[in-house]
Formats: sequence, C-alpha cells, structure tokens
Amino acid sequence: MKLPQKIILTEVGPRDGLQNEKEFLSTLQKLEFIQKLTEAGFHQIEVASFVSPKWVPQMGDSEEIIKALSPSAAVKNICLVPNQKGLEKALELNVKNIALFTAASESFTKKNINKTIPESLKDFEAIGVQAKKNKMWVRGYVSTCFVCPYEGKIKAEKVLEVAKALINLGVDEISLGDTLGAAVPTQVEHLLKLLMPKISSDQIALHFHDTRGTALANVLTGLQFGIYRYDSSAGGLGGCPYAPGASGNLATEDLVYMLNEMGIETGIDLEKLVEASRLMSGFLKRPLTSKYLQSCTASPRK
Ligand code: HMG
Ligand code: MG
Repeated sequence: MKLPQKIILTEVGPRDGLQNEKEFLSTLQKLEFIQKLTEAGFHQIEVASFVSPKWVPQMGDSEEIIKALSPSAAVKNICLVPNQKGLEKALELNVKNIALFTAASESFTKKNINKTIPESLKDFEAIGVQAKKNKMWVRGYVSTCFVCPYEGKIKAEKVLEVAKALINLGVDEISLGDTLGAAVPTQVEHLLKLLMPKISSDQIALHFHDTRGTALANVLTGLQFGIYRYDSSAGGLGGCPYAPGASGNLATEDLVYMLNEMGIETGIDLEKLVEASRLMSGFLKRPLTSKYLQSCTASPRK
C-alpha cells in the first residue's frame, strides 16, 4: 500500500463543530478554543460563517470572531460564504480564505441555502470572480456526496458534475462531504474512481461525519487513493442543522492518532489538541465523543 506521507488537515470544530450546538458559547470562549487549535499546529481552521443568524444563530458572532483574530500567513482562517451578502462581509473584514457551499442533492441545497444547485453555482460564478480579484483562497463544498437526508442515495455522477462546476469556477480545493455520516468505504472508492481521472488529487479534500462510525474506514480508503486532505472536528463536535440525523464530524484526535501511528505526518501536536477539546468539553458541560479523547480521560498519563 503506497499511502501519502503527509496530510493537510482542515479543523472544522469552531464552525461545523459549533453551528448545531444547543449550548450557546460566548465569543470569548470560541476565541479561546480557536487559539488552542492554532497552538496545536493546524494550518487550516474554519473559524466562522457569514450566514443568516436567523438560519444559524450559533454563528451570529462571526464578525466579532474575525475582528478579534489577527491575520496570519501560517494559518488559513476560513469563513463560510453562502451568497453575495456573505462575500461582501468577507471583503469588508479583509477575510482572505472563504468556503462556498452547495450540494449534490437538490432537496438538501434548497433546505440549506434556499437555492437550487444551478442557482447556487450561478451565484458562485460572480463570487468566484470577485474573490480571485481580491486574491482570496477559495474552498468549495459539495455536501451530500453519498446520501441525502431527504432523497436517499446520491449518484456519484451528480457529485462529479457539481465538483467539476466548482473547479471550473476557479476554487482552489473542493471538499466532498458525507454530510449525514452514512458513507462506507466501497462508496468512497466508487466516487474517487469516477472523480480522480477528472480532478487532481491535489484539489480534493474529504469531509466525513461519523454518525455510524465509518469515518476512519472511509479516510483509509481515501488514503489508498492518494488523497491527503481531510476535514475533522476536535472532540468529534459537529452537525448540520439542515441534515436531520447527522451527528458530529470525524474526531480530529482519532484521525491524528491513527495517522501518527501509521507514520503519516500531520504536523499536529496531539496533546495540545486534547487540551483544546477538553476546554470545549468544559464549556459545553458534557463529554465529547472522540474515542482517543475518552481514552486520555480514562488513563490521563497516556
Ligand atoms: P434566504 O432567506 O433565502 O435569504 O437565506 P434572502 O436573500 O432572501 O434574505 C433573507 C434575509 O437574510 C435578509 O434579512 C437578508 O439580509 C439576510 P432580513 O431582511 O430578513 O432581515 N441574509 C443574510 N444575513 C447574513 N448573512 C448572509 C445573508 N444572506 C441573506 N450571508 C441564506 C439564504 C443562504 C442566507 C440562508 O439560507 C442561510 O443562511 N443558510 C445557511 C445554512 C448553513 O449555514 N448551513 C450549515 C453550513 S453547510 C454544512 O454544514 C455542510 C458542510 O459542513 C459540509 C458537509 O458536511 O457536507 C459545509
Ligand atoms: Mg459538515
């Protein structure tokens, strides 16, 4: 097995991780969490989301978060942008890294951003041009790449169509989402076999939720195809408010532990990552789901 030697992780805890939390966190608590994640060594962190606070109240302080973070050459602090209004906010605040998001399922796209897939792509055309003019780094999400909570199984051909459309708009990286956390390795294999002749592995990230415990197995499949970009969330926080039945993202600790033990470089300090998750667990007043984190709590000298 020839696997990638080095992995680029996008830590999505402060955005995907917190957008669906019932417990409201203060801006200061979120900033402390982001600081700890930065200290753990992440180069890409999703920190905020310029979406409607009526739709996702938990992200309502995104402007304050961005204002409090100093721009860094070492870390891409990424902000979700659903439409022109979100882009304008990003430009106003001099945000340099944005993530656009659409999906491979019409029903999910409608529920999530109140648009059809073609409408979202049309919007992103203009946003992409402005973003590039302003030298932004742009990620493009394709959600529901395997199963949609409203439509069931999604055809890999549809994912390819949307992913290619995003690449043609000039996004730097696409992130393929198993929004529901339902995918299994054979489905990941099927999708990657279709995508990889058309899209460079340098531009593909995989974003697994872990609702059914299949995320690490899916990552292993991605690694076997040479994919070296993965999204995960500290402690296993996460979920999408418009994907009923979805639980948290793959826990970053579990992923980093596995990669470390396989001799694959992540650049992440696992102890500092555990500190970040413990801090968040304290803020949320509940244990987080990461198995590695739980094992540290059971035997603290690990
Ligand atoms: P809409 O209601 O169709 O928007 O929502 P509209 O253009 O008709 O405007 C309605 C109101 O929203 C107006 O305010 C606008 O100003 C405001 P009002 O006049 O009523 O006071 N508005 C905004 N406010 C702040 N920021 C904006 C914005 N745009 C309009 N950007 C909209 C459309 C896209 C805003 C809405 O559907 C929305 O916010 N959706 C976000 C949903 C979301 O955040 N979902 C979670 C992220 S995706 C995800 O988690 C999946 C992922 O992790 C990958 C995976 O797992 O698959 C990425
Ligand atoms: Mg997600």
